[in-house]
Formats: sequence, C-alpha cells, structure tokens
Amino acid sequence: MAEKVKLFVNGQDVEVESGKNLIDAIGAVGIEIPHLCYHPALGADGNCRMCLVGIEDGRPPLVPACKTMAVEGMKVQLDTDKIKKIQRDIMELELINHPIDCPICDQAGECKLQDYYMEYDGQKSRMTVPPVAKAKHMDFGAGVVHDQERCVLCARCVRFTRLITKTGELGIVNRTDSARVTTFPGRPLANRYALNVVDLCPVGAMTSKDFRFKQRAWFLAKSESLCHGCSKGCNIYIDHNKEKYKDDIIYRFRPRLNQQVNGYFICDEGRMTYKLENDNRLNVAQVAGKETSVNEAVENVRRVFSQAKKIVMLISPNCSLEQMQAVKKLATANNAVVSGYSDGYIKTGDGDLFLIQDDKSANRAAFGLLGLDSSKAGFESALVEADLVISFQNDLCRSLDDADIAKIQDKAKIVYIGSYKDGLGEIAAITLPVAAYSEDTGIIINADNILQQYDVAVRKNDPAIDLLQIVTLLGGEFKNREEVLTDLSATIAALNNIDLKHIPSEGIALTDKEVSNVAA
Ligand code: SF4
Ligand code: SF4
Ligand code: FES
Repeated sequence: MAEKVKLFVNGQDVEVESGKNLIDAIGAVGIEIPHLCYHPALGADGNCRMCLVGIEDGRPPLVPACKTMAVEGMKVQLDTDKIKKIQRDIMELELINHPIDCPICDQAGECKLQDYYMEYDGQKSRMTVPPVAKAKHMDFGAGVVHDQERCVLCARCVRFTRLITKTGELGIVNRTDSARVTTFPGRPLANRYALNVVDLCPVGAMTSKDFRFKQRAWFLAKSESLCHGCSKGCNIYIDHNKEKYKDDIIYRFRPRLNQQVNGYFICDEGRMTYKLENDNRLNVAQVAGKETSVNEAVENVRRVFSQAKKIVMLISPNCSLEQMQAVKKLATANNAVVSGYSDGYIKTGDGDLFLIQDDKSANRAAFGLLGLDSSKAGFESALVEADLVISFQNDLCRSLDDADIAKIQDKAKIVYIGSYKDGLGEIAAITLPVAAYSEDTGIIINADNILQQYDVAVRKNDPAIDLLQIVTLLGGEFKNREEVLTDLSATIAALNNIDLKHIPSEGIALTDKEVSNVAA
C-alpha cells in the first residue's frame, strides 16, 4: 500500500499517494490539472506549461505540476485569478496557429485542446493575421496520418518512439512557429506499436488511416475487453456502434491501462484484429456442404455425437477457461479424449521483449491449469480409433497440412464449432457458428499467468448461440456459466480461494506452479 500524504488544494485537505507528481496525485482524487505534454508512460517534459500551479512555500510563483512531487503539507493553488489567467494565456498561445476545424477533425469529441478551450479559455481569437500554413495529411507510415497544423508540439509522439519503441523515427525540426514534427528522410514510422501515437496525441495531429472519418467519437460505445491476438492478453476498449436498422459494428480497439499486463499500450497487429470480429465471421451453419439452420446443425451434431464410437474433442487455446472445463467434463462423461493440439498457433521468433508473444492464442496457460494435453503425439494417438473429431474453435488447418487433414477425414467425421471462417470450417462435415469472444464472457490466463475476465461487448441483432450452450445441448453437466465457475473453484486447487465471479480489473497473478498441472 503506497504511503499517503496530506495536501491542501485550494485550501481543502486532500489525502494523496506520495511519490507521484501533482498531476497524477491530485488527479487520482478527481481534481484535474490541465496538461498536454505530460503522460505517465513518457514522464514529464515540461514543454507545454499548461499545468502551471501555485505552491505557497516560498518557491517561484508558478511551478509545472508535472515536475513537482506531492509532499506532506504542500499548499497547492489551482483556482486563483493568476492561475486562471495563465491557463487562458497558454491556450491562446496554443491556438494562435491552430486551425479551428473541429467540425471536420477526427479527434473532435476526444481532443484535449477542444476540452480545455471549453473549460479554461472560451475567449475569441485576437489574431488579425492569417495562421502559419503547414503540411496536412502527411502519410507517416504504419497507418498514421499527420497534420502539422494541428500539432501542439507536446512531443509525446517523439518521446514514444525514443523511450518506448526505441526506434526514433520521429523528431521535431525548426523553431518557433516553424517547428514541426516529421520523420527523417526515407525513414517512415515502421515499428509494430506505431499506432499508439494516435492515442497519445492529445489533439487531432496524429490520426489512424484505418479509423479516420469512419465514426464520430461520441457515437461509439466503449466496452472493456481483452485482445485475443496473442497470449499477452492486452487490455483493450472495444469501440463499437449500433446504428439504427444496422448491426452492432466494431470500429476500433484501443489500449486500456493495466499496469500488470500491457501498461498503456497495445501492438498494431492486435489492434487490427477487430476486423476479424466484424468480417471474418462464420455466420451460417452447414451440413455436408449445404447451408442449414443452426437448429438443424445442432440436431446433426447431437446425432453424430450419440452414434460415434470413439470421439476426439479438439479444443482451441483461444477458448475461455469455462469453455475448456465444460468440454473436458463432457469428454470425461462420454469416454472421449480432449486434445488442445494447436502447434500452428505458435509463430516461433515473432514475439518481442515488450508485448508481442510467439503464441497467437489467448489462453494456452489454461491447458496447464486444467491438465489438458496439447501435444501432437497425444492428438495422434487419440486419433487412432476415433470416428468423430469435434473441434471447438480449433482451426486444425493451422497445425496440419491438407494431406494430414485428408487422412483424418478418411476415417473420422469432422465437426467444427467455431466463430470464424477458419480453414476447418470450410471442410468440416458439419459447421456450427457460435459467438465470438467480443460477444461473450469468459476468463483467460495470459503468458505471464495472469487470470483476467472479458465481458460481452457487442450485441448482434441476431446473436449467435454461445459455445457453452452447445456443450449443454450435447449433454454437458453445466446448465450455465455460473455452474462452471462454481465447479472450477471447487475442483482446481489453484482456484479454490479465488472468487471467479468477481475478478478484479487488473487480473489475478497465478504462480508457475499453479499453472503447470499438465497431464503426463
Ligand atoms: S503530433 Fe500530437 S503527440 Fe506529436 S507533438 Fe504534435 S501534438 Fe504532440
Ligand atoms: S501484444 Fe498480443 S494481446 Fe497485446 S495487443 Fe498485441 S496481439 Fe493483442
Ligand atoms: S504537462 Fe507540465 S509542462 Fe506540459
């Protein structure tokens, strides 16, 4: 627990965490100090002067809050006439050359300059000469578009490429009103985290080529979720909108702060996986290559399931912990084998030392926790006698080539229960669409053994059935998710003392030992 110190802010007692600057310390108790250049992940640069505050202790009349640490007994003034005048003056300076194009700016609605103008300025421009013209819609590379006229030169983007990605593609050149952010000749933005500069930019000077002009920020519902692009399980916002007469559509993923997992950032590849949730979806059920209703497909799955002599249940490392447990119990009750074989989800050498992992699945650690075997040898030996393979979200075509898949098809019927237009869905005897993670609730455990929960974000006009319901329809013992959670807490030692119905937003860290219950 961090030590607390008492401050006097505008004459009021306030208890804040020590060891933080005034912006963060006072901000944590709901009192805003306006700022443009400071960002907790990038540190204090002190260049914008928007955060100037008064301290009654004999130091200079005004100090930048981003560079001033909160200490016991400090008397901080935020609301004196002098401070308010400074804030108006800084805003006037920022706006001298800034185009007043909020109605057509993609950042409108989530722009610090716009918000601060309304909160701290509100005066008419006194400029009688035209603003300085600079370059607009510059393609900086990596899907980032820059508008030099809108830039307030806070240097957040520059510091991001120097301090975080250490690629240094951006710099500020020239001085005074000729100063501008640019890339070095022949060296566009080319790092795998470049789109974070769009989130970091406090104004509309950095926009995403993919998102710009698609939606107004105020129309978007912002739902908390977890990226499934790799085993890091980065915390994200799913920004989506259901327009009248249309379906609920995802427009972007943005990073959501979790200091234990991804900090303030996500990778660009994961950010773009929102497209899979919209476009790469399995929407129709098929039996023997012919489209059919979901009910008909479910009946067919039940029939082949009841007639099969030996069943292999292939589960995806992207399934939730609850789904895995429900399938495991169904398999045990039917003398079937569960396999998590999914080598094709691993791209060896693709990961880095920051966030991106080799394993392009979200929940492989749960295989260990539940004692599920994911070895190729285990899968192959289970196949020997099998006449039915039911895949739960596992695209076997990522792990095996066409010839190997054909060999399986020669002796066993393949059923695919999934959310995406994956390879296996194309060739399975029965294909049954189920809800994707953005439409479902579940628990995943990331590569660092942190257990986290995602919730339903998108609500489709015609919601897909969820995978747990299918397992129940096949005779699974759980009627709903709550029953699976109760069972998990009771039967998995590492979860005995965890309330799975109330997982804290930062997640729960398990130990290596707890997540290593792998079957021999
Ligand atoms: S582009 Fe945005 S983040 Fe970069 S210096 Fe300009 S205002 Fe700051
Ligand atoms: S690092 Fe992995 S989990 Fe994080 S955003 Fe990228 S793909 Fe998603
Ligand atoms: S936030 Fe303190 S000077 Fe910019």
